[in-house]
Amino acid sequence: MPQRRRAVCNRKLCEVTLSKYRSVVMLCMFLVTFSWLSPRAFGQSASGVDAGLARTPPMGWNSWNHFGCNVNEQLIRDTADALVSTGMRDAGYQFLVIDDCWHGERDAHGDIQPDGKRFPSGIKALADYVHGKGLKFGIYSDAGAKTCAGRPGSRGYEFQDAAQYAAWGVDYLKYDWCNTGTQNAQASYATMREALNHTGRPIVFSLCEWGTAKPWLWAGEGIGNLWRTTGDITDKWDGKHGYSLGVMTIVDQNEPLYSYAGPGHWNDPDMLEVGNGGMTADEYRAHFSLWAMMAAPLIAGNDVAHMSAETRSILMNKEVVAIDQDRMGHAGRRVRREGDLEVWSRDLADGSRAVLLLNRGTAPASIRFSLAEVGYPDTLTVRARDLWAGRELGPVHGSFNSSPVASHGVTLLLLRP
Ligand code: GLA
Repeated sequence: MPQRRRAVCNRKLCEVTLSKYRSVVMLCMFLVTFSWLSPRAFGQSASGVDAGLARTPPMGWNSWNHFGCNVNEQLIRDTADALVSTGMRDAGYQFLVIDDCWHGERDAHGDIQPDGKRFPSGIKALADYVHGKGLKFGIYSDAGAKTCAGRPGSRGYEFQDAAQYAAWGVDYLKYDWCNTGTQNAQASYATMREALNHTGRPIVFSLCEWGTAKPWLWAGEGIGNLWRTTGDITDKWDGKHGYSLGVMTIVDQNEPLYSYAGPGHWNDPDMLEVGNGGMTADEYRAHFSLWAMMAAPLIAGNDVAHMSAETRSILMNKEVVAIDQDRMGHAGRRVRREGDLEVWSRDLADGSRAVLLLNRGTAPASIRFSLAEVGYPDTLTVRARDLWAGRELGPVHGSFNSSPVASHGVTLLLLRP
């Protein structure tokens, strides 16, 4: 046979075959080099963190702010149903996350098990139910020996827990920082990231370290998709309440970090309190608008199955959600503060700008800003739309003077050149 083949290979044919072979080898070399270089050229690593996850700030619901430790499988199923029937899922709220207190003990193999009384059907069945509703499923653990509510933490079990989560169908992990003693935050979170990557399942990784070790400086480099920047939120406008912080206090801590947010890695000023009853509708609109301006994750924390029409109208204002979810992912920032009155600006992918006028004071006040302050040339004329009123305000040239902004309220404008 080899002889026969040689016989049919005259010189011309051999040259053609050889040159085809060379082209194939060169193409292969090019593809290998390109696939190695391209993620680096775009500043990405090949890890799970950059596997296209959280390109816009994650949206969903989490049990903690409203239900605390009172979680069980019926609540999660009812919430999944409600996320669909209310339109929340279709508005973008896709992750349903069970926070602390779902855990039971570890079994004889060390595998973490749910609390059998609260979750008698098991977590896999629950995750299947949630997935069946077109939602994604999230769970909570802690980098220390125990969670904040004293349930088993993942310390020393990172790879085993990650494998268990992946087997259950978990899409999102919130990872807390209680009972961590002298553990190093960066190393502890990197270990769990590695464990999640090892499962091969894309899992959004939410760091809940409260900003103590400045995760914005290191977590975006292949560790986390979002990181808490502050202590826990509470359903109040301002101030410190024990370990918890009011909305304005959180905003003042999170705002200066705007440059660290971007596709795949977000500052997390904690979950939403909208609809939990401790603030007025104006205050909730301000809270929600500020989260949208800061490109914060929008994780609702209310009782979705029993929410009022007003709460719905805030959480599902599509134009405000669209600002939060802008694909460019540039977080907005405060461009002027004069006493209780503030002007914020966020630039959006299509060249428009979101401008937020915030009144922290106790009386209504009108707020004025110039186009130059929000990043446009003074000579430009832009169209303005009021996103809470849902109405066009007409052309703006040079500067804009608002109608009175409510006390503890906002006017949120979309400016389009
Ligand atoms: C910490 C977190 C909260 C919540 C509780 C649960 O306080 O910051 O968001 O997860 O633990 O115990």
